[in-house]
Amino acid sequence: MNTSNSLPTATVDAVSLAQRFPADFVWGVATSAYQIEGAANEDGRSDSIWDTFCRRPGAIKDGSSGERACDHYHRSTEDVALMADLGIPAYRFSIAWPRVQPLGSGPWNPSGLGFYDRLIDLLLARGIAPHLTLYHWDLPQSLQDAGGWVARDTAQRFAEYAGELARRFGSRVASIATHNEPWVVATLGYEAGTFAPGIRNQKAAMQSAHHLLLSHGLAVQAIRAEASRTRLGIVLNQSPIHPATDSPADHAKARLDDGLTIRWYMDALLRGCYPSDVIEFLAADAPAVLGGDHALIAQPLDFLGINYYTRNVSGTGAPLEPLPADREVTDMGWEVFPAGLTELLQRLDGDYDLPPIYIMENGAAYRDRRVGDRIADTDRIRFLASHIAALADARDAGVDVRGYFVWSLLDNFEWAEGYSKRFGIVYVDYETQRRLPKDSALWYRDFLAAGRTSAGTRERRVS
Ligand code: FCB
Repeated sequence: MNTSNSLPTATVDAVSLAQRFPADFVWGVATSAYQIEGAANEDGRSDSIWDTFCRRPGAIKDGSSGERACDHYHRSTEDVALMADLGIPAYRFSIAWPRVQPLGSGPWNPSGLGFYDRLIDLLLARGIAPHLTLYHWDLPQSLQDAGGWVARDTAQRFAEYAGELARRFGSRVASIATHNEPWVVATLGYEAGTFAPGIRNQKAAMQSAHHLLLSHGLAVQAIRAEASRTRLGIVLNQSPIHPATDSPADHAKARLDDGLTIRWYMDALLRGCYPSDVIEFLAADAPAVLGGDHALIAQPLDFLGINYYTRNVSGTGAPLEPLPADREVTDMGWEVFPAGLTELLQRLDGDYDLPPIYIMENGAAYRDRRVGDRIADTDRIRFLASHIAALADARDAGVDVRGYFVWSLLDNFEWAEGYSKRFGIVYVDYETQRRLPKDSALWYRDFLAAGRTSAGTRERRVS
């Protein structure tokens, strides 16, 4: 790993960085249910596709699962207090579908619903705004047994689940996102097979992608019927895609990858169609789309969530050139490329009629070293500061970005990487389940405090 300090130290200055944002900007941290909750077999929760996938030999790098994870199910009071101590104003979390409706249809589980009910109340009592995600990848296994996202009926089941949760929680949460990263669900789950449910079939992947989008549209309708004032959106993972070389072949490949990852979702949600170049490329693998589907998918949105980690480089030559030595990478091997966030946001703003944008995830895994109770994760501080600065640049250029959530509050179960990658601003000692705020958590705390102070000063000047 290259740890050269290539970023200007000024970007780490919390005060001047905080002053670039308005007082009503939403700052938070994010997690997801399967990655932190544990208690996989308690209080009536059933298996999700991730429980099943984790049992498959070789699927998870360290052979682990989310069975215990951060034990957040039993430690939510402590975890909410930790956020309050750090002065964090907003928390994005997801609901585990198999905890609240174990079979994915039919009866609701009062214990599971009670857990989220109490969590939302705890957050509100500490002045932390709850931002809810309905689906962060943990489909009830029984729905997978009935075809998973390849089956059109799963979209109906999801809409029913969404409507019920909106009825129960809609008036107490700051926002509801239907899906987290449908591209990952469809492509890594059904085409690459590296994520649950571990299928390798492009046609199945594209049919799933369509049904995920359809389920989003149906869910938006169902939620609006139950909780008409809740702010609704969806969260997409997006990266600018740069051609590996200037060759026409690499440019064409980068354009196609852009179509498969960005335009497929953005065109469907904001223009009511799929990109024709991608449909042409897919040929027989293009999904079956019924009349009316496109209109259902393109429901008006109150916000669009974007998860940004890195840029992608596409080319036809295999394998791709290794990154030049002066490029910094994280422990995931992902290039640190903050300028890509500004570029992406400006490009989307130019190409689409966007609703307000929230960065729902941004962060980095590093090989944190614990010395006593201290984790001096300077790399992560520079990562966060440089991306927040890039976000300020996008705002200065006119993009309507209203919020930013760090991934993640806690070190957690990083999917196929197991516990080998640490993304938290808070360190988790998995033996004892002790939480230790890393230096990055303290930096974020100071950054948030600086923002509050400068907002106060600005308000006093105006009045
Ligand atoms: C995103 C996921 C999140 C986490 C980060 C590192 O794709 O939404 O759960 O794993 O990557």
